[in-house]
Amino acid sequence: MNNALGLDVGTSRLVLAAKDGDAFTYSRQLNAFVTIPYAKMTERALRNEGVPYSLDNGQILVHGNEAARFADLLQMETRRPMDRGVLNPSEPESGARLKEMLKSLLAGRTPGQRIFFTVPAAPLGEDQGVTYHAATTGQLLEELGFHATPINEGLAVVYGEMENTNYSGIGVSLGGGLVNVCLAYLSMPVFSFSTAKAGDYIDSSTAAVTGDLATRVRLAKEEDFHLSGVYSNKLHQVLAVYYDDVIKTLVNGLREAFTNTRNLPKLSRPIPLVLSGGTAMPRGFRDRFEKALMEVEFPVRLSEIRMAAAPLTTTAKGALIAAMADMEDAQTSAARA
Ligand SMILES: Nc1ncnc2c1ncn2[C@@H]1O[C@H](COP(=O)(O)OP(=O)(O)OP(=O)(O)O)[C@@H](O)[C@H]1O
Ligand SMILES: [Mg+2]
Repeated sequence: MNNALGLDVGTSRLVLAAKDGDAFTYSRQLNAFVTIPYAKMTERALRNEGVPYSLDNGQILVHGNEAARFADLLQMETRRPMDRGVLNPSEPESGARLKEMLKSLLAGRTPGQRIFFTVPAAPLGEDQGVTYHAATTGQLLEELGFHATPINEGLAVVYGEMENTNYSGIGVSLGGGLVNVCLAYLSMPVFSFSTAKAGDYIDSSTAAVTGDLATRVRLAKEEDFHLSGVYSNKLHQVLAVYYDDVIKTLVNGLREAFTNTRNLPKLSRPIPLVLSGGTAMPRGFRDRFEKALMEVEFPVRLSEIRMAAAPLTTTAKGALIAAMADMEDAQTSAARA
């Protein structure tokens, strides 16, 4: 077993990547929890079923994948430790919640392992906002016994998908809380940014129009929505409107970032752009994005616009690749010393 791990710390899900022989393996937990009143009987039932939970102030907190099932059963919304890509600094409990979930995701892993974890880029035009999140998450992982290093989420897409261009290209991760973008040249990040219109924005905006619960909208969206241009029901029609809004915001962000960045490397050949993340999943997304990008003057020549091989695990895989490379570097310098 390789001694390195990759972790995608997402607003919506936590994904852990490891390498088992030649194969990449992944485990996932929903980054959410529900609280239920404490009763000894309930606690015993949860323990017997192997459901991850913790106790807090006379309540039981059920976290991870099981949280969605409980929320649906009890007709309540799940709660989240993170919002728009980062831990909420005004909710001191959010760190403790995230730690519980990381603990169950990392159960069985040998402490001392090197782990690279994804952090979002600052929103376009700002350079603040992710420091608290990155430091806190790193500290939680260290407390659990791992050697933690942050890696930019968009850069992780490049590492996960662009070996064949020697890690040159544009990585895009369309998640729940944020869309993250990174331009890398020969594995080095040139610039990165995020925009706050992503999956959660689509859910809550659509819910506000149709009068549904956001969790219900999300289920419908994930189940059978695609961007075909023809919509058979009102919900799909509204979803498409907000999808277009997300795409437009991303395209404007890309154009602005590429137009305003002064240190753009002189690219000798066209570079790829790869789309990953849950929000890029519906059929027709790639085509819709390409069409929108072609409508603006984009200052860089692209060799292709393609979907990541496995959009839900791309960033965790990229983080793992970074961790393995870092381990090799450490071994090389130890051998030299
Ligand atoms: N099959 C699907 N079709 C449509 N949307 C999907 C699908 N699967 C997941 N999603 C949506 O993708 C989003 C989650 O994507 P992802 O897991 O990449 O985000 P994350 O990494 O947790 O969040 P972030 O990167 O913003 O912090 C959610 O809005 C979810 O509803
Ligand atoms: Mg993500």
